[in-house]
Amino acid sequence: MQNIGILTSGGDCPGLNAAIRGVGKAGLERGDMQFVGFCDGFRGLVQDRTMVIDSRCLSGILTDGGTILGTSRDKPHKMPIGGKTQDMTDAAVETYHRHGLDALVCIGGGGTQKNALRLANAGLNIVTLPKTIDNDIAFTDASFGFDTALGIATEAVDRLHSTATSHDRVIVLETMGHRAGWLALGAGLAGGADVILIPEIPYRVEVVAEAIKNRARRGKRFSIVAVAEGAMTVDEAQTVEGLVALKNKAATKQERRQASADLQAVYDQHVDHTLRLTRRLEELTGLESRLTILGHLQRGGAPSAADRILATQLGAECTELLRAKQYGIMVAARGSSTEPVPLERVVGAKKLVSADDPLVKTTRLVGTCLGD
Ligand code: F6P
Repeated sequence: MQNIGILTSGGDCPGLNAAIRGVGKAGLERGDMQFVGFCDGFRGLVQDRTMVIDSRCLSGILTDGGTILGTSRDKPHKMPIGGKTQDMTDAAVETYHRHGLDALVCIGGGGTQKNALRLANAGLNIVTLPKTIDNDIAFTDASFGFDTALGIATEAVDRLHSTATSHDRVIVLETMGHRAGWLALGAGLAGGADVILIPEIPYRVEVVAEAIKNRARRGKRFSIVAVAEGAMTVDEAQTVEGLVALKNKAATKQERRQASADLQAVYDQHVDHTLRLTRRLEELTGLESRLTILGHLQRGGAPSAADRILATQLGAECTELLRAKQYGIMVAARGSSTEPVPLERVVGAKKLVSADDPLVKTTRLVGTCLGD
């Protein structure tokens, strides 16, 4: 009998419950595993707050959004305690041993993979599953959560079309995606947005305005602009690039800290960039403009069929790797199958939209403006 811990960490997304169920059912089915769930991500592991994972609690959760375990963005090595952060790695390790665990399954995005690797380096047997609506985890073809969010964002583009047309308006739609443009690019393509702005391709507002005016000249007095939350103007992107370079070549801790603080200040100022973009487009085009921020709607509710299948497949496959005692790995999606990838490879890498991505090519071929 193997004792397995499970936790979900980072921002929630549709498919987390399907993944917990996939691991749990595949483990319980063979009768060679028992599970304990840790509540609220790594915080629950540090504080030893648990939840029973049995066939009863797994029943009926496949279609539910969120996570029955709860989640948080807390990191064991930087746990916020009484207004300060403390390294609680030892406490996490103690909990693991107190429960006599053979392995811990960590379900999460990029941050979770990093924290999981830290725990693996501290001696724990770790297997991770990739979840994110941002689609930015490297070395996996897909992560669950993305397909559902893409469907929601696409529906938003579809729905905005009719109201934009009725009023001859420019409607800017801000999608999530962190520093990756997959959601905006996918939803923009699927919904037929007229402009798509993503972080990987810095834009000039004048180019966007010109594309919208060109449409108006051709009699199309409405436009839909799909913007990733991380999209930046050429100037903003250059500032960020400069600060990242400064941070990377910082000779002292203090220089590094200063560059990080300056970088954070740029990101903080960037928060309402789509509102500023919308106002500027109204000024430059003379067309009434409105902004829709989709926000956490993209993370809520039931997972799509594709995400249910992917989460179940990765979860079930995870138990095979646990039986084989393959640890320190992420269960990645590869084609229609799965593949274990060492955590060292996953951590530090990010899957971003490259300039020569086939979807970027398609976007350009159909005449959609990318702002560059
Ligand atoms: O990583 C998922 C994500 O939804 C990003 O797209 C977004 O930038 C971030 O999480 C929002 O995080 P929070 O819910 O903590 O505000």
